[in-house]
Amino acid sequence: NDKKPTSIVIFGATGDLAKRKLFPAFFNLFLDGWMPEDFELLSLGRTEHTQEEFRNYILENINDFSRIKNFSEEKWNQFKEKIKFVRFDITQEESFIQLKNQLDGIDAKLGARANRLFYLSVAPSFIEKVSKSLKENGLANNMNQDRMIIEKPFGYDKDSAVALNAMLAQTFKEEQIYRIDHYLGKENVQNILAFRFGNTIFEPLWNNKYIDSVQITVAETVGVEDRGGYYDGSGALRDMIQNHLMQILCMVAMEPPTAFESTEIRNRKVDVLKSVRRINLEDINHYTVRAQYTEGEIDGKKKLGYLAEPGVNPNSNTETYVAMKFYVDNERWKGVPFYMRTGKRMSKKESSIVISFKEVPCTTFQDRIKKMQPNKLTINIQPEMDINLSFMTKKPGLDMKLKPAEMVFDYFECAPDTPEAYETLLLDALDGDSTLFMRSDQVEEAWDVIANIQTAWENGNVSKMVTYPAGSSGPEAADELLKRQGHTWLSNS
Ligand code: BG6
Repeated sequence: NDKKPTSIVIFGATGDLAKRKLFPAFFNLFLDGWMPEDFELLSLGRTEHTQEEFRNYILENINDFSRIKNFSEEKWNQFKEKIKFVRFDITQEESFIQLKNQLDGIDAKLGARANRLFYLSVAPSFIEKVSKSLKENGLANNMNQDRMIIEKPFGYDKDSAVALNAMLAQTFKEEQIYRIDHYLGKENVQNILAFRFGNTIFEPLWNNKYIDSVQITVAETVGVEDRGGYYDGSGALRDMIQNHLMQILCMVAMEPPTAFESTEIRNRKVDVLKSVRRINLEDINHYTVRAQYTEGEIDGKKKLGYLAEPGVNPNSNTETYVAMKFYVDNERWKGVPFYMRTGKRMSKKESSIVISFKEVPCTTFQDRIKKMQPNKLTINIQPEMDINLSFMTKKPGLDMKLKPAEMVFDYFECAPDTPEAYETLLLDALDGDSTLFMRSDQVEEAWDVIANIQTAWENGNVSKMVTYPAGSSGPEAADELLKRQGHTWLSNS
């Protein structure tokens, strides 16, 4: 293992993300032999804990959330020695000075300067303070060795994202900043590029001559859980569309990069976002649907309506569901609608991409089948992970009849235990590979794409909020949005 010794500093180590995702991911990387030989997990939190209490708390979380369930006590004992709880108050300069002493102490013991990876899993309002204090106290002044991972939200709209990026640029170089979008770490999202650019047979068809429409769905059964306060100030457009769905769109629509290399790939993604047609304010109703869930039932269990959720303003005008239509105005995609939808408390958890091809142009079989089903390529991201190509085939038998059939590549069959998104992304950050992270211009451009929608919805009188019962497949208006162009939602959430 030739990985550089690394001091990993987690701001917000007692928070929800650390508990569910970060510690389990680091532990799984450790079990699979991906962590550097020398590393420490400096775990920062505001409340007092003994090392033992904190390590036991992490073990409980690992038992609940780790991908790898079978591990020896010996392995855990090795890992737990790496975890150091540090009581930390972000508002106090003294805390940063102590942290610096700790980091310098680690370097002194190693006899070399370790890489430093700072994970900012803190409320957005603390990002400025933390990054400035890191810089001013000299904790992160080695451009080649020190990196910072930042969690979304990256701002609230375009202006705030520009301001945030400008602030960060005063303290860090862009190459040191890793803006995480965990959807980019999902196996089948990464696979889009392999599939498109690692085969000869699909890319020639990947354009408006052969593709009729594209659908991207991210449906969840969860509600706002205990994040009502955050979510009510955000809504599905900011929480999901601006980042996760836009990033998927970029992967589907981008031009071939000349190399699998971060600048190239990120340039091609920005190109897509720049080509997305901005929707005029007066057309927002025509292109978008926003909705809130009302009470309902999922798996036989009653669920509250959004307005009754804890932390949510009972008169809230925040959307929990969005469906919309985009166009990418470039040579490849001119005229092809990209439909997107995402919602909480839907009937089924499902993230998928459906590429619908155009109808067969010839009349050969018009007397033999009522309706030819156009080819459809489905990329299931989760919970199923597969690529599914539907095509027409001859029905076995004596006469010449046709029926649709499917060809499926299933990830779970060939790799039942694929790493979690956070494992991939944390490993990339440890290795200094930012390909799957978002550059400042990508984030700003993605905000720009939705800017008019934000404005229109905030004005309130422009676009009506509709509702859908918890456990349903969303509002009727979302079906209408597609029907106007003779389309229907093709995945089945
Ligand atoms: C997060 C959103 O970024 O992604 C959450 O803030 C959402 O609201 C989550 O639930 C979905 O992630 P996943 O990996 O469960 O699909």
